[in-house]
Amino acid sequence: MSLSRKEKAIVKTFMGKAMKKADEVGNEALSRLLTVYPQTKTYFAHWKDLSPGSPAVRKHGLTVLNGVFDAVDKIDNLEVALLSLSELHAFMLRVDPANFKLLCHNVLVTFAMLFPDDFTAEVHVAVDKYLALVCLALSEKYR
Ligand code: HEM
Repeated sequence: MSLSRKEKAIVKTFMGKAMKKADEVGNEALSRLLTVYPQTKTYFAHWKDLSPGSPAVRKHGLTVLNGVFDAVDKIDNLEVALLSLSELHAFMLRVDPANFKLLCHNVLVTFAMLFPDDFTAEVHVAVDKYLALVCLALSEKYR
């Protein structure tokens, strides 16, 4: 799967807007991940409070979303751009890569919620593909 030139432009424009609400997007997406797929809580068992909107969830949500937003600049080379993050999740954190898809799904839902006017079907397709490519790049070191 690859993004066309037009889709890349759509992703860049949409992400440029979404980035301005990175904190809110990160909090909503991670809060939802932990609520809708509670099995993901096991990875964050060392946090004091895993409830939606808690300081730890908000802070880490922003960290993760910044990873997603920063990668937009490296859209043509995601595998290389995300290699060290892939290594970290594979060997240090030992996160099952199936969880990347769950997170990306929640990021997509969050975009639709927070940006109803910008999130057209055309944007949906391009951003969905971009997130799938991010998941694939993060799964690189598991092979
Ligand atoms: C840490 C990005 C998905 C579990 C991190 C960090 C980043 C990041 C940037 C901080 C790394 C550092 O401190 O050097 C991402 C991105 C994801 C993703 C871009 C997918 C789009 C996930 C998923 C899980 C997960 C799905 C588990 C369900 C963790 C854990 C940490 C971490 C446990 C360490 C947090 C802590 O100890 O407080 N991730 N992540 N990540 N990530 Fe991910």
